[in-house]
Amino acid sequence: MKFSKRVSSIQPSATLAINAKAQELRAQGENVFSLAVGEPDFPTPQHIVNAAKDALDQGFTRYTAVPGMPELRKAVAGYFSRTYGVECSQNEVIVSNGGKQCLYNLLQVLVDSGDEVLIPGPYWVSYPDMVQLAEGIPVIVPTEPEDDFLVTTRELEQYATSRTKVLILNTPSNPTGCHYRLEKLEELARWAVSRNIFVICDEVYDQLVYPPAEPASLCSFWTRHPDMVAIVNGLSKTFSMTGWRIGYVLAQQDLVKAMSKVQGQSTSNVCSFAQKGALAGLEDSFAMVGEMRASFARRRDLALDIIGTWKGAVCPRPQGAFYVFPRVDAFYNDRVDSSTELCKVILEEEKIALVPGQAFGDDRCVRISYAVSDEVLKDCLSRIGALLARLG
Ligand SMILES: Cc1ncc(COP(=O)(O)O)c(C=O)c1O
Repeated sequence: MKFSKRVSSIQPSATLAINAKAQELRAQGENVFSLAVGEPDFPTPQHIVNAAKDALDQGFTRYTAVPGMPELRKAVAGYFSRTYGVECSQNEVIVSNGGKQCLYNLLQVLVDSGDEVLIPGPYWVSYPDMVQLAEGIPVIVPTEPEDDFLVTTRELEQYATSRTKVLILNTPSNPTGCHYRLEKLEELARWAVSRNIFVICDEVYDQLVYPPAEPASLCSFWTRHPDMVAIVNGLSKTFSMTGWRIGYVLAQQDLVKAMSKVQGQSTSNVCSFAQKGALAGLEDSFAMVGEMRASFARRRDLALDIIGTWKGAVCPRPQGAFYVFPRVDAFYNDRVDSSTELCKVILEEEKIALVPGQAFGDDRCVRISYAVSDEVLKDCLSRIGALLARLG
């Protein structure tokens, strides 16, 4: 069958593919551990689950408004006010199927054929493919582990052209866990605006930043440049709600309307009772998030302690999300000469799934998720360390 050029140009999500491979091995009876997971290993808080159940029992099972229930959009606006002291209206918020659909809609609305989109690398797997689906051209701006994988305005300047339309920022980052301080984030945004480049800031991990680092959002900058910035966030990581598919965008009203038009011709509203759950989450205290944050901070330290013993690996200290992204190419040899080969060997010999850095645009690294128990993390990282020592 002949498919469109559009779909032929994109890759399946590498992270989903690795997890599928691990599940396949498990189904064959293998005891496989996955450090490839992109979701918190905590249950969704019970009050959120109950709110969705109640909604079902009450027959709240019909279409809602395309950009989300007004109460939920208002609650999202309340989140920005409570967390960052930024006032906005519900008309400046759209609720979509995860941060993923938010990003997809934004790129569909902002990017024309041939427009260039700057993406600092390593990047979240879906950005370049989403840009291509919008017929844009992803332009990767590489960063180094020695610089904590943080991009500078000078580096962005080198890759910007007259066709550059959008810059995608992500903090804390998937896959590196590295995080921009607010001043630094705003400096990048100021540079973009001065070049008439629209900024999409992906903040889906903003609640998972580990002290002394502090969450940083471009929402305050957005109030000063409403037609040049959009903030993407969601509840997947915040409340461990990955399967519920709740994401949202804060943006200028006309942009929200344009995204709503795209959403209205594709998926329509997010699942009605999932929205009710999301509302309960946003309106309640964030107590569970604090517990989750403390666990992740502890596991981050645990992971860094063990990776620190891998002689030859370079690993910046992540300040958020639940990933570490060590550079491990010092262990490559004639047989194992790429991150994909290395992950294959680790899966085959140790039955541990990781995601190759190549999927995130850096073949020197591997992504390790610490959204697993302390015991599994310790055991897996020690075994990987021993395997690397055998290779190196
Ligand atoms: C950086 C980043 N952005 C966006 C998403 C999308 O998440 P969701 O669609 O579940 O909100 C993810 C998920 O892994 C992510 O890591």
